[in-house]
Parts: sequence; structure tokens; C-alpha cells
Amino acid sequence: MGTSVLTPASVRRAGTLHMSDVPLTAVADAVGTPTYCYSADVIRDRYARLTAALEGVPYRVHYSVKANGCSAILRLLASLGSGVDVVSGGEMFKAQRAGLTPATDIIFGGVGKTASELREGIAAGVKLLNAESMAEVELIGAIAAELGVRANVGLRVNPEIPVANWHHYIKTGEKGHKFGIPYGEVAAVAQRALELPSVRLAALDMHVGSQLTSVDAYEHGAARLVALVAELRALGASELAYLDVGGGLSVRYDDEVPMEPEDFGRIVTRAAHESGLELIVEPGRYLVGNAGLLLARVIYRKQSGGKSIVITDAGMNDLVRPALYKAFHRIEAVEPLDARLTADIVGPVCETGDFFALDRDIEDAQPGALLALHDAGAYGYVMASNYNARGRPAEVMVDGARFAVVTARETYDDLVRRETASPTWHHA
Ligand SMILES: Cc1ncc(COP(=O)(O)O)c(C=O)c1O
Repeated sequence: MGTSVLTPASVRRAGTLHMSDVPLTAVADAVGTPTYCYSADVIRDRYARLTAALEGVPYRVHYSVKANGCSAILRLLASLGSGVDVVSGGEMFKAQRAGLTPATDIIFGGVGKTASELREGIAAGVKLLNAESMAEVELIGAIAAELGVRANVGLRVNPEIPVANWHHYIKTGEKGHKFGIPYGEVAAVAQRALELPSVRLAALDMHVGSQLTSVDAYEHGAARLVALVAELRALGASELAYLDVGGGLSVRYDDEVPMEPEDFGRIVTRAAHESGLELIVEPGRYLVGNAGLLLARVIYRKQSGGKSIVITDAGMNDLVRPALYKAFHRIEAVEPLDARLTADIVGPVCETGDFFALDRDIEDAQPGALLALHDAGAYGYVMASNYNARGRPAEVMVDGARFAVVTARETYDDLVRRETASPTWHHA
């Protein structure tokens, strides 16, 4: 069984692309474009398949909010039993607002947590603060002592293993990367954590990279984590409770063959069993990547230098992945015509890098046509910006035959709401 047999985010019925039982034309008519659409069915399906693959050991899924922080998605995943992994005070705020409980549901990670973010996490009593350096452990210890509490700390280990994925920007666990504690220094950081009365050394954590298509990196990384568990226990770490193997499961964008959750599950549950610790996984992309698409409308067609150019109302400010990572997104016409063309599909932003596809063979798309940019549920809206003073798009949740706007489209007023024409000047 492969990920391709899972519920698809869209199906074509009577010529029109639908998400579940909702024609995408109905969403565009009601909400306008560009609009992100998310399939609740796909998210439920992914969550069920992943958790089935983890049965056999104590485990918890902590969805990685960075992939898509839409509150409706956080609430949906929480209702299924998921916790979250957050990497900023803002993500923690959103998670709490969506109903997640810090002590049981929230893990706070991130390479550069500020003192005030750490204070928020410690005061809230999060399940784990995953620390990435000796300095951060010291700072956590000091803040927790000041607050009169013991903070639950995990050490994010850089497993220092090479991984195979398509872009070096999404590799995180190789030697020299900014993430995690260099493998050889973990014991010394653990020793220090054990000396701090305000710190409970509760977990070892890693995240080897994103969009991993092979389980080799997990196998290698998990073995290195398990070896460290033994080393740390020998140093006196008696309160270790969790083995956090991070996220990184891949999804299909084009013709790549994603990792099977069952293969992932086999490796990480074995590591958890060997360590005697409860397993934590932090998937982001796997749960939401294929669940979302960006709906855009063609504004113009033009010819330039012998090429066809299709200009849409969505731009790189809405979906930056192609410009940032050379990422591939399938593009389909919602109501295709009987012809095809080879074209550059671009946005309206004043940047040559503002494109979704170059020289792509697609269904003919005349001005007014709706396009679906598929598999945009992860690292899509969360990376949207107001570049060119463009309001960020709407977000819509589709559930069966219903759909709802879960994030309103930004208005012109939203663009200037925090600016002031009469600032207070400070004198140096
Ligand atoms: C610590 C950590 N956990 C989880 C994730 C989620 O990764 P993915 O979306 O590839 O599952 C990331 C992504 O960078 C991460 O840094």
C-alpha cells in the first residue's frame, strides 16, 4: 500500500474538479481567488494511517504547526488526538487559542527561542522545551529557577547524518547545520542539565530533515539517539521519558515515491522500544501537504520571446515554494478545455522569480479560467507575505459537501492597520 492510494484532495466529476463533494468553482464564486482549500478528509486519513503505523509502543503525534498554522487545522488535528510542536511564542499562542493544553499537548522547539519566549513556555508549563545548545539549557535553568518551577527539557541532537531530499534548504541534521546540539557535545550538555535543579532532563530529540523519501536517515539517526539514551542514563539521567524523532515524512508532489508510514513506523517504534521511552513524532508536511491546494484565476495570457505566459491572480507572496526551493506543484484547470499548451505559469508580483511553473505542459487556460495548484497544504499559507502590498489569501476548509472560510482574505485596511502617520519619536 502506498501513499498514493490515500484519499485524494481533489477528484474530477462531470469535468469539474471537486474537493470532496464541493466543486472548486463554488468556492471561487463564494470566496474569490486566490484561496487555499484544505480537505478535512485527507487530514483525517493521514492522521489515521500514521497512528496505525505507530501502534505497539506508547506514542504521541505532535503535529508541527510550522507546516500550516491555520487554527481550523489545529482544532481538527487536536480533535483526532494530536498534540503540537511549536517553534515560536506566536505558534504557542495560536495552539493554546485552538484549545491545546501546554502541559500535555505542546512541545516548544526552535533554534533561536528568545528569553521571553522561553519564559512563556516555562510559565505555561509546556510538556517539553527542546533545547538546542548549552546556552539555551542555562537560560532555561535560570528562568525556571526564577519562576520557582522545574522545566521539562529535551535535548535536540544533531545526529550529523547525510540525508537525501531535493533541496539543501530542507536538510537539517547534517554536520555543521545550525540545528541541534552537535552529537559529540550532547553528553556535556546533558551533564549540565542534570546539575540544574530547575531542569528535568526528559527527552532526546532529533529532526533529520524534511521531505525524506528514504527511511535510512531515521534508521541511522534513531540508532544514534538510542545510543545516547544509554550514555545519558549512565550519567544519571533517570527522568528521561520521551524519544522524539522529529518530522520529515515525505509526500508526493510529482513522481517521487514517498516514504511509507509503515516503514517509518517500524523503525521508530523499534527505537522507542529499545530505549524504553515514549515515542514522539512531529510530522508537518505528511499530515497537511497533500490536503491543500491553492485556487487561482487566470488574469491574462501573453506571448513573449516565442513563449506562452499564463498570468494568474496568485503570486509568490501567496505560495513561495517554487521561488524558494524550486518546488514542483501540479497544476490543473478546474474546468479544462479540450486543448493543451506549454506555458510559464506566473504571478502578478514584480519579480522574475514569481512563477509557479516554467515551460509546463498544462490544460489550456484562457483568462477567467480557474487553476488548482496542488499539494500546497504545507509551507504554503504560513510563508505567505504582503509583498507588493498584496493581502494574504483566504483559507477554506472543505468537509464532505460543506465548505467554510476559516481565515478571511486580508483587506487593504489590514495592510495599514499597524502603521501610524503620527509616530512617537524617541530622543537618543
Ligand atoms: C524540529 C522539527 N520538527 C518537525 C518538523 C516538521 O517537518 P516536516 O514538515 O517535514 O514533517 C520540522 C521542520 O522543519 C522541524 O524542524
